[in-house]
Amino acid sequence: MMKNEVRKIKFKVFRFNPAVDSSPTWKIYEIEADRSLTVLDALLKIKEEQDPSLSVRYSCRQAICGSCGMMINGKQRLACFTRVLELNSNTVVVEPLNNYPIIRDLVTDFSDLFKKEKAIKPYIIRDDVEEMLNPTGMYLQKPEELLEYIQFADCIECGLCSSACPTYSTDSLFLTPMILNKAYRFSVDSRDAGLAFRLPALDSEHGCWRCHFAAACSSVCPKGIDPAKSIQLLKRLITSSTIFKRTRKKELQMVSRPHATESTIIF
Ligand code: SF4
Ligand code: SF4
Ligand code: FES
Repeated sequence: MMKNEVRKIKFKVFRFNPAVDSSPTWKIYEIEADRSLTVLDALLKIKEEQDPSLSVRYSCRQAICGSCGMMINGKQRLACFTRVLELNSNTVVVEPLNNYPIIRDLVTDFSDLFKKEKAIKPYIIRDDVEEMLNPTGMYLQKPEELLEYIQFADCIECGLCSSACPTYSTDSLFLTPMILNKAYRFSVDSRDAGLAFRLPALDSEHGCWRCHFAAACSSVCPKGIDPAKSIQLLKRLITSSTIFKRTRKKELQMVSRPHATESTIIF
């Protein structure tokens, strides 16, 4: 890309309003792009100058709020973090993110992610409830304790990873990489004692075991997080936990003694 380069770029934009349209359509717009123009700038320019009916979601315009995720030339990206000329294409195809219901045009519905997020309790849980509700001091950490989770803590909840996940596309109940990464971030935190409360969701049929580690999620994360890695570390954390071992032991004993009930088993 040359310093003062300006090029005419064709935007092929997905349009669909489920309230009135029976099927999606594509609309073509053309705008001039210089090296600083992002895809979000371009879409807002189109909205302002050519078609006010186009729906786009955004807020921060600097890759922080996680609102502007969409498919850009077939890949999950943040529109505000993608420069048009860096795509090296005279046509830019813009679609809503895969794997989510469409609210309108490029705006998708993340309700499923937020519902699943509640299930994994994404906050520090202390052993002592009284202390948790009325903390008496700071919970200090050593640098090596911080290093355990800090690389997974920058998530902006943009949903790109879950949109790229092939498991989520075939199992809508799968917790998804965004949620599993968050579960690991909190469970491995030295101040947290909440893994047992998260386990029913994480160790379920649609929990972490459904991830087959192909890492499509990690390849699209705009913050450089590696959710595929945190999910594998989460599996290790779970299998080494006392609560997991106790539950599995109980299940094995139930299988080997099919007539036994929980109340007749003594540990
Ligand atoms: S590594 Fe796991 S969570 Fe990530 S895309 Fe693959 S199946 Fe989905
Ligand atoms: S892990 Fe990355 S891609 Fe996934 S939601 Fe967080 S910031 Fe977005
Ligand atoms: S507008 Fe906030 S991440 Fe793009």
